[in-house]
Amino acid sequence: MAKFSTILLASSLIITSAKAQTPPMGWMSWNAFGPNINENILKQTADALVSSGMKDAGYKYIFIDDGWPIGRDAKNNILPDPKKFPSGIKALADYVHSKGLKLGIYSDAAPKTCGGYTGSLGFEKQDAASFAAWGVDYLKYDYCNAPEDSATAKTRYNTMYKALAASGRKILLGICEWGGRQPWRWAAKAGGTVWRTTGDVRDKWKAKPGEEGMGILDIVDINAPLDKYAHKGHWNDPDMLVVGLYGRKGPASDLGGIGCNDQEYQSQFSLYCIMAAPLAASNDIRDLSETAKKILTNKEAIAIDQDPLAIQGKRVVNNDTWEIFVKPLANGETAVAILNKTNQPQQSNVHWSDLGLDGDYEIRDLWTHQTIPQIGTINAHETKLLRLKHTLALAHIFSDNMVLQRDHPLKIWGTAAKGEKVTVTFRNQSATTTTNDHNKWSLTLQPVKYGGPFEMTIHTTAQTITYKNILVGDVWLCSGQSNMEFPISGWSHVVNYQDEIKNANYPDIRLFNTAMSISGRPEADVKGGQWQPCSPATISPFSAVGYFFGRELYRNLKIPIGLVSSVWGGTDIESWTSRNSLDTSAEYHDAVKNLPRFDMDSLNGLHRERV
Ligand code: GLA
Repeated sequence: MAKFSTILLASSLIITSAKAQTPPMGWMSWNAFGPNINENILKQTADALVSSGMKDAGYKYIFIDDGWPIGRDAKNNILPDPKKFPSGIKALADYVHSKGLKLGIYSDAAPKTCGGYTGSLGFEKQDAASFAAWGVDYLKYDYCNAPEDSATAKTRYNTMYKALAASGRKILLGICEWGGRQPWRWAAKAGGTVWRTTGDVRDKWKAKPGEEGMGILDIVDINAPLDKYAHKGHWNDPDMLVVGLYGRKGPASDLGGIGCNDQEYQSQFSLYCIMAAPLAASNDIRDLSETAKKILTNKEAIAIDQDPLAIQGKRVVNNDTWEIFVKPLANGETAVAILNKTNQPQQSNVHWSDLGLDGDYEIRDLWTHQTIPQIGTINAHETKLLRLKHTLALAHIFSDNMVLQRDHPLKIWGTAAKGEKVTVTFRNQSATTTTNDHNKWSLTLQPVKYGGPFEMTIHTTAQTITYKNILVGDVWLCSGQSNMEFPISGWSHVVNYQDEIKNANYPDIRLFNTAMSISGRPEADVKGGQWQPCSPATISPFSAVGYFFGRELYRNLKIPIGLVSSVWGGTDIESWTSRNSLDTSAEYHDAVKNLPRFDMDSLNGLHRERV
């Protein structure tokens, strides 16, 4: 007896914690068949899931949608329509299980479903018991014909969750109230494994102005900002994939659902994967086109969706041209999805640092399955789905031709694989450290006197990077005087500088400007070609400004010098890079104010010396 109750306790614990560790994947009957389903279609679909390779790729569920019940018997047991399911749901579940798949079913938290079929309100326990007895593994629980308010929704969903948990079988609950009651705030607590965030997706890219049905992009726009609510076992559900429907007549074809092109279907797939969305194919996979199959079975893309870290990618860029998502992955790599929303091909101009990513990366294109040197052109409505692997990298503030502050401890930092040993060699010094859990490392070298050009080598087991033409000199910090206004042409000495290095013989290089304030918005102003006087109020932190300046100089003006600031000496550059915004804190000001400043006379002096 004691043994028996222990087993019971253990199994009820398992049941009440029923959740999916990664977003559920399967096929849902609604878009291809509406309510016109039957056991043959579903069995054939189970077969097709296996023979097409979709099961291998991770699709586990056959989700029966609306249209299966016919009513209740004299004892109020819910009954499948015998015309559609002559062998009963249990036989279907057995068949599906025999293929190594799982079965999902559908009901509604009201007397009637959206299609007007029998719902479960008031019969939750009894229906959950039927589902369990049949061997059902998942319930999509809809919300048609139910009251508007959130409180009722929470209660009704939780009632069904408890009924499922008490049914003796692990049955996941999919909440489907279309986002109206902000289920992301309460659905996990109510017992939902997934919750729909939107109305029904239609088979189109984007709704025309005034058109009601939502397309792929409309749905993505609703789901994207909800990333923080998704976590392991609980997922935002932006509805089914429309991949491969090609305008097929059915629920997804109304309200303007005229179909999409393959590029757009592929985009939906990429965007769903980066958002860790449940992947429910909804086309007729008994008749799967080669392209739809290629999209739906892309294992590299699916691995992004199913990544064990279980993070919904964050949309970090959203403008008229681009949407860019970033998703950290369990092995320390990063997935990035870049969507070109326009109707023309666009040249990608993304810089990892713009996305808050430090360091250098090897880029793998998850659609061509190749490592690519750069992102290149992105077609209209195309989404590049990329996997970024850290190559050894200093933080982006470093580059060839950088200037290090003389006579100051040199704090060098960067990124590399987790736990990697990193050795930096510069002049006659060498120091070693190990990356932390966030792939970051930093170490400090002893102060160095004026001089250059030197090389700095960063070495790990995976890679060695050598930065060339490093100078040790004074880093000029803007102090706001009027003589610190630099028009573009005033940078000729910078351009010359590289030649001078090539021609060597500068053993005592003394100065290179690296910090420049441009009215607090360096990027914008450099792009516009407008130079402003620097003013102390707008130049904190100097290093950040210098970094922007150097990067923009290179990017926009094609001046082949990665001119960057290097203000060290107790400053907190690392925290700046991680926050990725200008640091205006008093601590920062205090930290930088004692750094040596360069005065214009020395600059002139240097020029004189050079002539
Ligand atoms: C609602 C749901 C759909 C589908 C239909 C069935 O519209 O949002 O996903 O289940 O009901 O009637």
